[in-house]
Amino acid sequence: MRSIAGPAARPQARKRRQGRLRLVSCAREGAGYTLPFNLEPERKAPHPIPYQGSKRLLAKHILRFFPNDLDLLIEPFAGSAAVSIAAASKGKCSRFHLNDINKPLMALWHDIVHRPAVISEAYEALWRAQVGDENRHFALVRERFNLTGRTDYFLYLLARCVKASVRYNSNGQFNQSPDNRRRGRNPREMRDDIFAVSHLFSRRVRLSSLDYRKVLPLATEADLVYMDPPYQGTCGKRDSRYCTGVDFDEFTTELNRLTDRGVPFILSYDGRTGEKTYGRPLPDSLNLHRIEIDAGRSSQATLLGRVDVTYESLYLSAPLVMRLAKQDEKPRLGANAQLSLVGA
Ligand SMILES: C[S@@+](CC[C@H](N)C(=O)[O-])C[C@H]1O[C@@H](n2cnc3c(N)ncnc32)[C@H](O)[C@@H]1O
Repeated sequence: MRSIAGPAARPQARKRRQGRLRLVSCAREGAGYTLPFNLEPERKAPHPIPYQGSKRLLAKHILRFFPNDLDLLIEPFAGSAAVSIAAASKGKCSRFHLNDINKPLMALWHDIVHRPAVISEAYEALWRAQVGDENRHFALVRERFNLTGRTDYFLYLLARCVKASVRYNSNGQFNQSPDNRRRGRNPREMRDDIFAVSHLFSRRVRLSSLDYRKVLPLATEADLVYMDPPYQGTCGKRDSRYCTGVDFDEFTTELNRLTDRGVPFILSYDGRTGEKTYGRPLPDSLNLHRIEIDAGRSSQATLLGRVDVTYESLYLSAPLVMRLAKQDEKPRLGANAQLSLVGA
């Protein structure tokens, strides 16, 4: 939503945002990890696909746990691929494999990377055609998307629908409603982000639309896997296509296999808001290193007038911790470190 603050309020708002970028050292006893303060305003990474659950705001913190000598990053649950985009923007690795079970999403990724002009123009045409009759236009595009699966329709729907949240009915039809408060991303900004991402990824990305279990066996000791599976509890029957089959036991078996093969990975898995925790605890036998990130006030809590803070957990595999320890002179990880990312 656009800020309603006038020009006079802007310098103050900018100052506030800079302050909120400050990183505070971890709070728990015994944690040997100190993050430097960072008051430099960050250049925003491009983000062409609006996507609920995107890790855009946390990406820069996740990058802190990337090894220095990384060539290939694999994202089996890519979504809008915020972490890969951030990694590419910062030159953290040179090759990428993006995968997601959602086929229209990966088709959209294909067009963004390989046909940026075509998809930008098509989005702009759809966006302009809505003016004055936004809701009927949305309904028409949704109907056509369900018949054709076209990528420009999908991008427009994501830009206009409630919370940029992908929802399908039990017949696999996209059934999310429009957000009546917004018209969707401005086509000029969308075009800039599409071209920027195409530039970052072209000739160095592999795209696939497979179940994650088919992708993990491709990872080696030299790579890094970043996983952000759908939260448990967010998948009802009607979302069967979006959340297809991330069964807890199967998932932990796959994590075990990765660790046994010495594959470094980072997992965004559970979290908590106030007293409420999400996600079934991962077994200790996986020997994962847990980091907790203070992700700021939850929007749901804000809506309800509460001040609950959301914490997101990151889990690092033992092979990754060993690789980081080898390359760092100073230990940067303490047991169960908590990073407090003020307002991240
Ligand atoms: C929480 S989202 C990932 C968000 C992503 N980190 C981002 O920055 O946008 C989880 C993704 O996993 C995908 N997914 C669900 N089940 C899957 C499966 N079995 N295999 C591969 N991808 C799956 C969903 O389509 C969804 O895009």
